[in-house]
Amino acid sequence: MPGYPAYRARRLRATPILRRLVQETRVTRDDLIYPMFVTHAETSEISSMPGIYRFCVQDLCSELEQVAGLGIPGVILFGIPPEKDAAGSGAYDDGGILPQALRAARKAVGNDLLLIADVCLCEYTSHGHCGIVEGDRILNDPTLQLLSRAACVYAEAGADIIAPSDMMDGRIGAIRRALDQSGFADTPILAYAVKYASAFYGPFREAADSAPQFGDRRSYQMAPHNRREAYREAAMDVEEGADILMVKPALPCLDIISDISRQFSLPVAAYNVSGEYAMLKAAALNGWIDGERAIAETLTAIKRAGADIILTYHAKEFVQRGMER
Ligand code: PBG
Repeated sequence: MPGYPAYRARRLRATPILRRLVQETRVTRDDLIYPMFVTHAETSEISSMPGIYRFCVQDLCSELEQVAGLGIPGVILFGIPPEKDAAGSGAYDDGGILPQALRAARKAVGNDLLLIADVCLCEYTSHGHCGIVEGDRILNDPTLQLLSRAACVYAEAGADIIAPSDMMDGRIGAIRRALDQSGFADTPILAYAVKYASAFYGPFREAADSAPQFGDRRSYQMAPHNRREAYREAAMDVEEGADILMVKPALPCLDIISDISRQFSLPVAAYNVSGEYAMLKAAALNGWIDGERAIAETLTAIKRAGADIILTYHAKEFVQRGMER
């Protein structure tokens, strides 16, 4: 074929060393945050998330030492309280499960690991919603005060970063002001800025027993159909003082991760959520896919889309099994 294209794409794919040279995206442990559950009860495995546990405080600490030892920069902690009530009071109780865990964790790992505190009411409310409920409505502004209290309690207990996941309007501004007034002007906020109402949170809700007891979360979480709305949500959080913008879930939202990382200069995080983990694990445990390759490809895709930080339940095994590349 005379004059066949001067460019042959396969030239640079010919050998491992050439492929290594031209590889555009690399996922390393530095990109990862490991989500963990801490419970007042005994340690138990989450049935829909094989390999992931609700840890009692003591077991959490030994696990955190391992995670720090692997060189993973941070964890995000979710508390599961002994009792739930309508006002989610366990969320902002200074003696509650998360403050207890934060204090113990700090003793165990010092400053070798970033301790990120998820701020939301749904794990702590009897009705399972992320805000105060009146009739069948989820009230916005009264919820802000409770979230702000929770944020300050966690900062006081030693949280390095505060991560509000509730999707009430104005929460970043309210939490920022509360933190500043309580002497935590230097504590960053990782905003769940763009959080869609997703089926992929199912296993998390089993883990935290936090499924809404009536209705669903569609009056506060975003409709998956909307793309431009993600820009508005992120812009609002930037204006209110967010330090890092998160998009959630990750795999169904690669386009959104891409948009947000181009439109804003703040670091962008993506949450590879519980349902994404469960699907991959289930297929891998059945021998239907190669689990290791699927994990590496998944995290690579999320980073390639534009995420600087990936919250993933795969973090530990990704590092342990040498999947960085
Ligand atoms: C709390 C919260 C949820 C997740 C993170 N924070 C559940 C929800 O919004 O229903 C989901 C994380 C996951 O699925 O891994 N609001």
